[in-house]
Amino acid sequence: MTPYELGEKRVDWVFSHMPVLQRIRADYAREQPFKGLTVAICLHLEPKTANLGLTIRAGGATVVMCPSNPLSTQDSTVAYLQRHLTCFGARGEDPESYHRHFHETLDFKPDLIIDDGAQLLSTLHKERRELLGGVIGLSEETTGGVNIIKAIERKEGLRFPCMGVNTALMKHLFDNRYGTGQSTIEGLLVATNLTVCGKVVTVAGYGWVGKGVALRMRGLGAEVIVTEVDATKALDARMEGFRVMRMIEAAALSDVIITTTGGLNVIDEPHFAVIKDQCILTNVGHFNREINIPALRASAKTEREVRPDVEEFAMVDGRRVYLLANGELVNIAVGQGHPAEIMDMTFALQSLAPKYLLENRASLEARFHTVPEAMDEQVARMKLDTMGIEIDARSDEQRQYDDYY
Ligand SMILES: NC(=O)c1ccc[n+]([C@@H]2O[C@H](COP(=O)([O-])OP(=O)(O)OC[C@H]3O[C@@H](n4cnc5c(N)ncnc54)[C@H](O)[C@@H]3O)[C@@H](O)[C@H]2O)c1
Repeated sequence: MTPYELGEKRVDWVFSHMPVLQRIRADYAREQPFKGLTVAICLHLEPKTANLGLTIRAGGATVVMCPSNPLSTQDSTVAYLQRHLTCFGARGEDPESYHRHFHETLDFKPDLIIDDGAQLLSTLHKERRELLGGVIGLSEETTGGVNIIKAIERKEGLRFPCMGVNTALMKHLFDNRYGTGQSTIEGLLVATNLTVCGKVVTVAGYGWVGKGVALRMRGLGAEVIVTEVDATKALDARMEGFRVMRMIEAAALSDVIITTTGGLNVIDEPHFAVIKDQCILTNVGHFNREINIPALRASAKTEREVRPDVEEFAMVDGRRVYLLANGELVNIAVGQGHPAEIMDMTFALQSLAPKYLLENRASLEARFHTVPEAMDEQVARMKLDTMGIEIDARSDEQRQYDDYY
């Protein structure tokens, strides 16, 4: 099978499980909301995102896509997409080419942007300021990117409206929690071929991603520890039945540590000094900065690859630490990412967001925006409908009762 044929089969398979996106694509093909416009998309280049790109293209746009992580690119998806739209990227490419693709994508002077980790936005603000004036709006995929948008807004101001799709309930309740929860299992198992049951698994961070990962690890029979910096979230984890402690204590007890914070050096030098022999370190936060890899390297006597995507670091006292996928998001770099049914909701939002930005361009200020409640509700109702689930509606009597003062 050629890479193109494999790409086509994979893209078709996931699309057959994305009924909401199918409806939006059919609407867009009729309405042509993006006719004459260029839309730049920076996302993991895999079959589900391919379907987002093809949906935007069906709406009449010229679409240019580039990867949001060099390890998550599927070459078969790129081979398929390149026959339908402009697409840059190759799996495992070097940092220079990866970075160059942001510029090649921006060279198309996009009117609208769909971003992940605010990578195109950061490139625009730092290196391509001449293009800032031409952008109508941007929608951002993930928590890490929303943080960067807010930092740019605080420090120098935004030049166009930026919508955090992650703020939608239909995104973070499902994609971050259940999507990452399930795909982390896949990444961990494919990388290691070891058990989860009977192991002590520490989840760093109990936000939406951490909740999903902790839930699924418990479901597989692990004893789960949670570490947090937020008192409320730590209490929430404890009430949910997880053990909560500091990372310095957890490191000594854990067979697996999974970082989900989006922060910096959550596992650091002091932890490497006490970490349990044969502990597996892995990350599902957006950037590979949660495990201090230079410090791990400095703490180790030797390092070697023991399996694809598994590096062993041997300490002077003989303890071994295994790092998966160089600290990149294991669910995407090793696993195949979130299930199609979950990304159906995320990419429904990601395809509706540019249309909203376009239709409301006269009234939307150049600042950070959350997803309007109506859009969240629209996607929720479409998803229920495609699942054949009907729900009750409040009666007039119930409405009057609820509004009573
Ligand atoms: N792998 C994926 O497919 C995927 C999917 C969605 C989101 N993400 C990424 O996962 C990360 C988390 O997303 P989220 O939606 O859960 O964010 P969130 O803000 O809901 O949760 C992050 C949690 O980490 C905690 N935290 C911060 N620093 C910490 C530290 N040093 N130690 C322990 N806890 C700490 C915070 O208090 C917070 O509760 C982000 O980087 C996001 O972009 C990845």
